[in-house]
Amino acid sequence: MQLIDGKATAAAIKKEIAEEVERIVAAGGKRPHLAAVLVGHDGGSETYVRNKVKACEECGFTSSLIRYEADVTEDELLACVDRLNRDADVDGFIVQLPLPPHIAEQKVIEAIDFRKDVDGFHPVNVGRMAIGLPAYVSATPKGIYELLRRYGIATSGRKCVILGRSNIVGKPMAQLMMQKQYGDATVTVCHSHSRTLKEECRAADILIAAIGQPGFVTADMVKEGAVVIDVGTTRVPDPTRKSGYRLCGDVRFDEVSPKCSFITPVPGGVGPMTICMLMLNTLAAGKREYYG
Ligand code: GUN
Repeated sequence: MQLIDGKATAAAIKKEIAEEVERIVAAGGKRPHLAAVLVGHDGGSETYVRNKVKACEECGFTSSLIRYEADVTEDELLACVDRLNRDADVDGFIVQLPLPPHIAEQKVIEAIDFRKDVDGFHPVNVGRMAIGLPAYVSATPKGIYELLRRYGIATSGRKCVILGRSNIVGKPMAQLMMQKQYGDATVTVCHSHSRTLKEECRAADILIAAIGQPGFVTADMVKEGAVVIDVGTTRVPDPTRKSGYRLCGDVRFDEVSPKCSFITPVPGGVGPMTICMLMLNTLAAGKREYYG
């Protein structure tokens, strides 16, 4: 069994990005600028955004953080999106999700100029990616694909089972893995109503778990020699930790890992790659790589 080290891979990619940024700046180009909008004080979102700002520093990007209290109106938030769309210095920006229930998330996503949508959530980017055109790709699936690629894991023609059908992970992951220029795999997506979920998992050469249920994947669901990617990051209360919680994956690592050829740990697997791919998307935005 080989552990897939997302932390080390992300550090190596961030170093590559930082070097490229310094080359761009030395040649008189613009330093990429990522803005993040954070609404309210959700613990998980605070951590993600803090880590995104830190990653910007590591990559040599300019970053801005725009904060609103949880009672911000939808109109105020849409006005902020409009300002960021028109701000020539901002190359890309994200609105951290989830948003409070009185704000229509999809409306906010669609208000973002797709050319600055470094999260890859706007329907233009989702659609372009689905038909194989250059586009911003959602960071978690992109990070998983990058891990498979960098670890030399063959995917072409192999059976890939994805647990979960979210817009952010499951659906774009399925798109990437099925496309000829990416995974070129045979893809099955399972979800809470799948009748043959266990059987599908047992047949998987590559199993990607993104359902957000701690310990859902047990040893009897995994084929000998499979590659297992754990996207789960549920916060489970843990009084022995300073933070008061620990991150728990969707896979029972202790019993599943002995059967795997490769497996990602939680934490230190997919998580660090997600933020790193946001940095790669921001670099692409700075270079006007997809939309000129
Ligand atoms: N909430 C959880 N993951 C993400 C992400 O990748 N981007 C944004 N904007 N919000 C999130």
